[in-house]
Formats: sequence, C-alpha cells, structure tokens
Amino acid sequence: MKKLLTAERLKKELSADIDIEIFESVDSTNNIAKERIVKGCRPWHTVAALSQTEGQGRLGRSFFSPVGSGLYFSVVLYPESFDIGLITGAAAVAVCEALESVFGLSPRIKWVNDILINEKKVCGILAKGLHMGEKSAVVLGIGLNLFFPEGGFPEDIRDRAGYLFSVETEGIREKLFAAILERLMDRIENQRAEIADEYRKRCATIGKTVDVIFADSAKKTRIGRALDTDDRFHLLLEYENGEREVLSSGEVSVRI
Ligand code: BTN
Repeated sequence: MKKLLTAERLKKELSADIDIEIFESVDSTNNIAKERIVKGCRPWHTVAALSQTEGQGRLGRSFFSPVGSGLYFSVVLYPESFDIGLITGAAAVAVCEALESVFGLSPRIKWVNDILINEKKVCGILAKGLHMGEKSAVVLGIGLNLFFPEGGFPEDIRDRAGYLFSVETEGIREKLFAAILERLMDRIENQRAEIADEYRKRCATIGKTVDVIFADSAKKTRIGRALDTDDRFHLLLEYENGEREVLSSGEVSVRI
C-alpha cells in the first residue's frame, strides 16, 4: 500500500536542507523531538507522525490526533531569543500564508495561535522552551486536521473543530507540509516588523467580546472586549468595568 507521507517525497517539494523523520504513530512528536535535542540534532530537525496516542495541546490539554486524517509535527529550534510568544505568533502567520498561497484558503487566527477556517479550528500550535543542562531549545509543535476523521471528532471539540480538505489528492500532504516548513523558516529566521500587521490582519478575535480564560487557572474567567494585538502578539483587552489589560498567555472564547 502506498504510504500517505514519506520524507523522500517531502524533500522533493522542499528547497531547505533539513532533517525530517516521519512515523506512522508515536505518543507525541514533541517527545521524540526532545530525545533528538538530547542527541544533539541540527536546528529545524523535524519529527512528523500520521497519528499520536498522547498528542499534547495548550494549557495541559490533549490534542486529538487520529490515524489517517491529520498531520502532526514538531520542529526543533535553537533561537537566539527564547520569546515563545514571538515564535508562536510567527508560526501562526506562516501556517496562514502557506494555506493561502498554495491552496487559496482564507484562514484566520484565533488568539493566541489557533488557525480557523470558517470559524472552525483546523490547526493548533504549541511552542515550548526546554532547558536541559547546557542545552536550550524550543520545540514548535503543529497539528493539522487535514480531513474529516473516521468516526468524527470527539464530542468535547465537535462544535469547534474543522478540517482543511474534503478530498485527498495525490501529494497534498507533502505540498502542505513543505509549504508550511518553508514559510516557517522564513518567518522565524527573518522576524520582520510587518509580521505584527500580518498577524493582526488575520486575527479573528480583534473586535469581539470574549470570555477570558487565564493561564493561571486559579484566576476567575472574565468578560472583555478584544481591542487589538501588539507587536509581540499580546492581546489588549478592555473589561466591562473599563479596566484594560495586556494578555500574553491564556485563552479567549468568543461570546455569541
Ligand atoms: C493546541 O491547539 O492546543 C496546540 C496543539 C499542538 C498539537 C501539536 S501536534 C504536534 C505536536 N505534538 C504534540 O503532542 N503536540 C503538538
């Protein structure tokens, strides 16, 4: 049977010289990426899988990663600055640019870094800084729902989850994967001032009334209005009592 994705086919689509490993199934590509850091892998070493049994999401949640319908990968970075916010913001813009330029889609960003198509989440992004003895690195994990999963989405995400493509065409996984990697390399290595505008332009959260869920789970959820994002992709909020806050992490959910 023809493999859904191979490193060989992917490399034909890629101009960059990076190390890529592709697995059928792993617990989490983030875990394998960490092992590769310990072994001293090169920057941009990429670990991808067609399914994950313990996919990791933001705020300690799990990430639904079924067989056959998604693409899950982690990239190892050794950045000069460990600004996780800047890396995830740049990654969100890069994923959007790849979806726009190669597939003509119109993705939007839900702050901080969910990628939406028609208001449904099709991609999640998670960057983690790691400091292991002498070694410091960032693992940037990206999970994409390519197709509708067999058996559907689990109930807890059914209302919010979406997928990118209705039909599977030859080479679609490689094309998408290569386009994202190329855009990521450009956006992360050449951080330019206009990226904040690129993010803002695509941010579906700005102007909306939202429930603000704080990263510190001891803090109570508040209702606010998302006014803008700043140059570091932080969210400027105005609460019902007029108080303002700039949020660097946490989550918002748009009120209907
Ligand atoms: C989120 O939306 O909560 C972030 C999801 C990030 C998921 C990706 S899939 C590849 C990598 N491996 C993981 O275990 N998580 C990230």
